[in-house]
Amino acid sequence: MFKKIFAAFAVSFVLLAASCSESEPYFVPEEEKLWKIYENDFLIGNIVNSTYLSGMHFQLLKTHYNAVTCENDMKPNYLAPARNSYTFSAADNMVNNMIANGMTVIGHTLVWHSQSPAWLTSGTNEQVRANLVKYITDVAGHFRGRIHAWDVVNEAFLYPFNVPITNDTEWKSGLRTAEQINWNKASTDEMTYIELAFRTARTADPGAILYYNDFDLNNPSKAKAVRNMVNDINTRWLAEQRETDPDYDRFLVEGVGLQTHYGLSWWNAGNFNNVKNNIENFLRLGIEVSITEMDITIPNNTSSMLDAQALVYAQLFDLYVRLNEQYDNRIKRVTMWGIDDNTSWRRGQFPCLFNENLQPKKAFYAVSNPQSFINRQ
Ligand code: G3I
Repeated sequence: MFKKIFAAFAVSFVLLAASCSESEPYFVPEEEKLWKIYENDFLIGNIVNSTYLSGMHFQLLKTHYNAVTCENDMKPNYLAPARNSYTFSAADNMVNNMIANGMTVIGHTLVWHSQSPAWLTSGTNEQVRANLVKYITDVAGHFRGRIHAWDVVNEAFLYPFNVPITNDTEWKSGLRTAEQINWNKASTDEMTYIELAFRTARTADPGAILYYNDFDLNNPSKAKAVRNMVNDINTRWLAEQRETDPDYDRFLVEGVGLQTHYGLSWWNAGNFNNVKNNIENFLRLGIEVSITEMDITIPNNTSSMLDAQALVYAQLFDLYVRLNEQYDNRIKRVTMWGIDDNTSWRRGQFPCLFNENLQPKKAFYAVSNPQSFINRQ
């Protein structure tokens, strides 16, 4: 069965590669498009950057994906390199182009210690707090109505994470320290900068779904700290909302993004279970989960490595589908962090579904039909 599907896919892609040029449309039968295959499960995303806006990259993006995240262009150092002067035009063009092509657009990211200009976190604590509120108000306000979900805060917790989290309330001890992240200056005894960021984002764009995004969340202690944070912020928020509107039960932190930058050497049965348990623990909070930056590296692109990589992709997609059946379709999106091995941020480690010549790899076919791929092993 899988061999037949594989052969059919391979033939249509070889024909495509031979016939497709920038001026000719890239044709893939509807049922072979990734977004179509997963239409009833979750959105299938990828990143967008200036390279992906034209040529074969653009064709692949439009054909297989129905959600996009700007790889860099919506980060603070791109949007606000200097105080009081926003540079929205590149991101605006990208976002508008993607929407015109029917894509769901994810905002990435409002608050992060990296790719953020120094001016945002310079000055007194009060100034930094005011900067945080103004930046989020201006940026989320600017894109309001165009962004489906925002990564409001990215990677706020320690890495490596060695803090034992032994109860259901502790999380602040796991945050990056003041030396690592200047945004801490915006925190007060009453409210961390993280909660302030979420509250500000809700006001600036009430229609956007608000996410906390991070990596290394298969570390049980770090994941527990993030769950405790989500619970803490949401509990306080819901209590306040109920005082003013008893029917109002929308969470403030509505989703957690699991980046999912994995490597083949890390993969084994124990870590498969960690991934599964971790996703389930987040889903049990009642929030949504998205896989926000998926890629799986391999040390070389020999046939056996490509096979092994494909199997990991198949096992993960199969897991996501099965968990979704169990948890009311609350895994909302799986976004790949790169179209092809040559343009990936992990170039040289062959992490994507398409190779350096933009040809589909075994991993692509594995994602297209995980069950068949797994059964074939
Ligand atoms: O814009 C400059 C360009 O002017 C210069 O010529 C060039 C020379 O190296 O560098 C360009 O900037 C680079 C930028 O990507 C755009 O290509 C930066 O050096 C480089 O550090 C930056 O890397 C990005 C990285 O975030 C920064 O942390 C990657 O593209 C991007 O894929 C990556 O994405 C992050 C997510 O946002 C958060 N999670 C982790 C993920 C991977 O690191």
